[in-house]
Amino acid sequence: MPRPLLEIQNVTMKFGNLVANDDVSFSVNEGEIVSLIGPNGAGKTTLFNCISGFYKPVSGKIIFDGKDITGKSTHEITLLGLTRTFQIVKPLKEMTVKENVLTGAFLHAKNKKEAEQIAQKVLQTTHLWEKKDMLAGSLTIADKKRLEIARMLATRPRMMMLDEAMAGLNRTEVKEAMELCLMLNRDGITLLIVEHVMEAIMPISNRVVVLSAGKKIAEGSPEQIINNEEVIKAYLGERYYAKSRQANSRI
Ligand SMILES: Nc1ncnc2c1ncn2[C@@H]1O[C@H](COP(=O)(O)OP(=O)(O)OP(=O)(O)O)[C@@H](O)[C@H]1O
Ligand SMILES: [Mg+2]
Repeated sequence: MPRPLLEIQNVTMKFGNLVANDDVSFSVNEGEIVSLIGPNGAGKTTLFNCISGFYKPVSGKIIFDGKDITGKSTHEITLLGLTRTFQIVKPLKEMTVKENVLTGAFLHAKNKKEAEQIAQKVLQTTHLWEKKDMLAGSLTIADKKRLEIARMLATRPRMMMLDEAMAGLNRTEVKEAMELCLMLNRDGITLLIVEHVMEAIMPISNRVVVLSAGKKIAEGSPEQIINNEEVIKAYLGERYYAKSRQANSRI
């Protein structure tokens, strides 16, 4: 039986009268790659903020590895092994790539030497070793997103939540980001991915959860989701039809 690592139970989050997450429930099993998709404003980032301790949901529960983490601080949640990246990348611009990764490594490292060892391994895994002495602010957007992942990876997570890690990347960079996701997953990290780049996440996801206007409207295998009428109407339709129109106009 698959074991749920993260369980979202009836989570509701409101901003004033706006219901950003409306009674959302789903779980992510250990070892899975699950994608969370949906139109702009569907509540994806808000849900990440609730899970990672930036917001306390109005109601509902979030369970990680059997422990209730609802309302816990981001620090406590990171210590338990659950971490996230941000839709708007926030590297410490005036610090080097390596120094950025060290800030993550110090979460568990007992001393500087150990932190350096963790940072080195993470920089090599994420192909940032050559750029370790560059200022984070001078990196390309693709490398900034990669650094964001590296910083989180240095905290030795069991599960990572990626918020639009592929937005703004070109085709080659998207492919590299997909490969990085698969590699992290092979290394035992469970992934929950928010992404609009369908052609990148559909092939790598075990399951897909769809939010629209705060509500979960579907959940299933990538194949079930791309053929789901409600999902096509709420989200995929415009994307796929716009794409096929573009393709047709080129013929
Ligand atoms: N801090 C906030 N205060 C008030 N409203 C907010 C806040 N954060 C998000 N919202 C609103 O909550 C809703 C959900 O926003 P959210 O950012 O979670 O959507 P999203 O699915 O991540 O969208 P996108 O794909 O554009 O990133 C939107 O209507 C948004 O305007
Ligand atoms: Mg968002």
